[in-house]
Amino acid sequence: MERPYVPREIKDEPPETRMILATNRLIIRDWTLTDIDDLVEGLNDMEVAKWLAFVPHPYTRADAENWIRYCIKSADDEKERAAYHLAIELKSARKVIGGLSIDKINRQQGTAGGGIWLNKRYQGLGYGSEAFGKRIEFAFTTLGLRRLDNGYFEGNEASFKLQEKFGYKVEGIRRKAFVCMATGEIMDEHITGLLKEEWIKI
Ligand SMILES: CC(C)(COP(=O)(O)OP(=O)(O)OC[C@H]1O[C@@H](n2cnc3c(N)ncnc32)[C@H](O)[C@@H]1OP(=O)(O)O)[C@@H](O)C(=O)NCCC(=O)NCCS
Repeated sequence: MERPYVPREIKDEPPETRMILATNRLIIRDWTLTDIDDLVEGLNDMEVAKWLAFVPHPYTRADAENWIRYCIKSADDEKERAAYHLAIELKSARKVIGGLSIDKINRQQGTAGGGIWLNKRYQGLGYGSEAFGKRIEFAFTTLGLRRLDNGYFEGNEASFKLQEKFGYKVEGIRRKAFVCMATGEIMDEHITGLLKEEWIKI
């Protein structure tokens, strides 16, 4: 039988994390300030940051703290959150191995954006699929959305594969859409979208 999840001791922060989704191996929950080290470990890595638009390199403790404080603030309105920025914690190690977001939630339109990243050491082990599948289920089933917007930079095969396996379709290219903060390179973005009726449940 699965062990019950007991949140780690958290000082200076709410007594327990509020938003919790569970999969076999993962807990997906709000960020807390105790996650700073794991966040820096995951994002202070060019191999991860080069695929993300807004992650500077090097990625410092101050960057991590600012981000987590922003996430805590954005989680304030529990009834009508416009965004879920969540940590992905590996249950067996009690370690945050990545992050995911559902953001730009438009309840009137039934749409949202967002994405996912994992610490390089934990990639290629199916954790991305596990977390991403739960994210989609939460967006469509719990939030009642009907469409998820996403995208990936030219060359990001892992992201393309991950999205494709859940039913995302490539809808076009936004040329020179972003300056990647980590590399300084101007990147084309492949735009993707998932309609609820095309969602492949894995
Ligand atoms: C994208 C990312 C979250 C995928 O997570 P992951 O745990 O490595 O993915 P999984 O192990 O669940 O694999 C998902 C699918 O992608 C495939 N895949 C994984 N890495 C791949 C790679 N480098 N090239 C091609 N396919 C790859 C897997 O084979 C799998 O498909 P399958 O189930 O049909 O075999 C992870 O690679 C990552 O964090 N990358 C850096 C940040 C990033 O690119 N984020 C997305 C920005 S749009």
